[in-house]
Amino acid sequence: MERTLVVVKPDAFEKGATGKIIDRFLSEGFRLRALKLFEFTREQAEEFYAVHRERSFFSELVEFMVSGPVVAMVLEGEDAIRRVREIIGPTDSEEARRVAPSSLRALFGTDKGRNAVHASDSKESADYEIPFIFSQLEMV
Ligand code: RTP
Ligand code: MG
Repeated sequence: MERTLVVVKPDAFEKGATGKIIDRFLSEGFRLRALKLFEFTREQAEEFYAVHRERSFFSELVEFMVSGPVVAMVLEGEDAIRRVREIIGPTDSEEARRVAPSSLRALFGTDKGRNAVHASDSKESADYEIPFIFSQLEMV
């Protein structure tokens, strides 16, 4: 069993897509282990995406992530990190609509920046991101 972090980003939250996104993961057989609605501070968003600090899109990414509420969750399942990444689809939502039309980014994202959903991309990311958002007492 593996755990991964998913974040419904501000664009998808604003669209009212949170319930549909959670339902998709539950219907794919994942178990919900933690769930939280909150807003990132700028400092928290910068730390959460610290691996991208040197990238050209970093400030745009941080602006986007602090632009409204997000919903974070921990999902558990076999091979969860890889399978959840497959369900969310490619980073660029326009590409997602071409190559993975039923993916969450195809359905709810706009483009490369505003792409509806975040998911941990490796065991190392999940080990950093899950305790960044959730304390032990907030998980089952
Ligand atoms: P995420 O971390 O949010 O799950 O996305 P990802 O792994 O598919 O993509 P990553 O390379 O980690 O990029 C993180 C987020 O930065 C924004 N981005 N904007 N304008 C751009 O060229 C660009 N490239 C990336 C996206 O919001 C992406 O999800
Ligand atoms: Mg990433």
